[in-house]
Amino acid sequence: GTEGKLQLVQKHIRAFPDFPKKGILFRDICPILKSPAALTAVTDLFEEHVRNHYQQVDLIIGLDARGFLFGPLLAQRLGVGFVLVRKKGKLPGTTVCVAYDLEYGTAEVEIQEDAVAPGQKVLIIDDLLATGGTLYAACELMKKQQAEVLGCMVVIQLKDLNGADRLKPHGVFSLLQY
Ligand code: PRP
Ligand code: ADE
Repeated sequence: GTEGKLQLVQKHIRAFPDFPKKGILFRDICPILKSPAALTAVTDLFEEHVRNHYQQVDLIIGLDARGFLFGPLLAQRLGVGFVLVRKKGKLPGTTVCVAYDLEYGTAEVEIQEDAVAPGQKVLIIDDLLATGGTLYAACELMKKQQAEVLGCMVVIQLKDLNGADRLKPHGVFSLLQY
C-alpha cells in the first residue's frame, strides 16, 4: 500500500550535514536510484497522485538535474512526453530563458521554444523543494509558453524554507516532508 511505499522511499534517503557548505543538511536521493524497488515506489506514488487528481496531463516537465531522474519514468507510465528545463547554455536551437535568485547571486534556466505549445497542461517535477526558486522559475517559463501548470511534484519538501508559499497559486505535491 501507499504507506509501505513511502516507508521504502524514506529508507533510501540519506542526510549529509554541512554539504555543500556549512549549515546545510543535504538530502541525498542516490540510494533511491540504486534500489529498483524504491525507484518503482517513487514512480508508483507519483502516478497514483496524478491519476487521482488530474483528468488530462499533456507533458511532464523535469528540472535539471535530478528532476531528470524521476520525470521520464512518470511520463512513460502516463503515456505522455517529457520536456527538459535546463540550466542556461545546454540546449540547442531557439530557447526561452528565465533568471531566478539563489542564496547568493542568480541563475538562469531555459527550455526549447518549441517544447511546449500554448494551452498544454503540464506537471513540473523535481527531486526536492527548498526555497522554491527553481520550481518558481520553471513555472515562469511555462507562463511565457502559455502552458497551463497543473501543479508541481517533488520527492522531498523542506518545510522550514516555505518554498510552497513561493509557488502559489500552484500546488506542490511531495512524497516526504522534512
Ligand atoms: C537542487 C534541487 C532542486 C533545487 C531546490 O538542485 O535538486 O532543483 O536545488 O532548491 P530551491 O527550491 O531552493 O530552488 P541544484 O541547484 O543543487 O542543482 P542540481 O540538481 O544540478 O544538483
Ligand atoms: N537543494 C537545495 N537544498 C537541498 C538540500 N538540503 N538537500 C539536497 N538538495 C538540495
